[in-house]
Amino acid sequence: MQNKILEFLKRKQDYVSGEEISQHLRISRQALWKHIQELREQGYEIVAVPHLGYQLVSSPDRLFPSEINSGLNTKFIGKKIYYFDKVSSTMDVAMQLGMKNTPEGTLVLSESQAKGRGRLGRHWSSPKYKGIYMSLILKPKILPNATPVLTLLSAVSLCEAIKKITDLDTQIKWPNDILTHHKKLGGILTELKAEMDLTSFVVIGIGINVNNDKETLPEGATSLKEQKKENISRIELLQQILQSIEKNYLLFQQKGAGAILGKWREYSITLGRRVRVVCQKEHLEGEAVDIDIDGGLLIRKDSGFIEKVMAGDVVHCR
Ligand code: BTN
Repeated sequence: MQNKILEFLKRKQDYVSGEEISQHLRISRQALWKHIQELREQGYEIVAVPHLGYQLVSSPDRLFPSEINSGLNTKFIGKKIYYFDKVSSTMDVAMQLGMKNTPEGTLVLSESQAKGRGRLGRHWSSPKYKGIYMSLILKPKILPNATPVLTLLSAVSLCEAIKKITDLDTQIKWPNDILTHHKKLGGILTELKAEMDLTSFVVIGIGINVNNDKETLPEGATSLKEQKKENISRIELLQQILQSIEKNYLLFQQKGAGAILGKWREYSITLGRRVRVVCQKEHLEGEAVDIDIDGGLLIRKDSGFIEKVMAGDVVHCR
């Protein structure tokens, strides 16, 4: 009911009498008042003026599912949202939901994480109400060894969404760091449940620094706020990310991995550079020449041999 009241107030954009709302939604004036109180407690600023009625003045900067869903233009991504104020990691919640057979496209969102994790066992700083911390459940009908393309697909989708909402150009550093001006804006962590030849589900974990102030960011990181010198609507950005992921996911299903790799190459800041990759205590140096269909980075060593790395940290040499 609260969502319906909000929708009504948003649509009117002006004062609406309590009588009109009550009649429209078929609830008593008393019930309406109770709902308005609850919405105010959630952070919605709703003024009430005698003889004029109610007006929605502002909405809180919270990723409430009702806010995300309103105006979200997707068929299945983000249609079911689990929202938390704080969790250990959205990855853990999503993995558990995946085991319980939740529908494809289910999204887990949290305003903060106590133990946000990144690639290679690193910590992901997740301050409250500042970033986007999400895990998305996908159920592609592909073999487990083909799932890395979903990470590439997500990276491309993030770049597209950030450009659309903020007009900021971003690049992808292999495997899936989202950079701008050589600083890290966001990252992707993919986990999956699979058997030898069957992918049961994949969880795409995405973290983006949105409204973090410069002083609170880890070294080498930046935020959209730092870049744009203004607060960015996390709701609009999240909606755009979900729409972009769905569009690219459908493209992948129709046209195959090649279509995604083509886009990934355009955003890549790694290809064509001399790189040093640190993987499993080994160092490998050479020119990053291409990305393979399985997400591996192809490196031409000084000997001329091409070697593929599947995981590790890349340093851009020059
Ligand atoms: C990386 O760059 O190392 C990947 C970072 C991924 C962070 C996100 S935040 C939401 C989701 N939950 C986590 O614990 N990690 C991912």
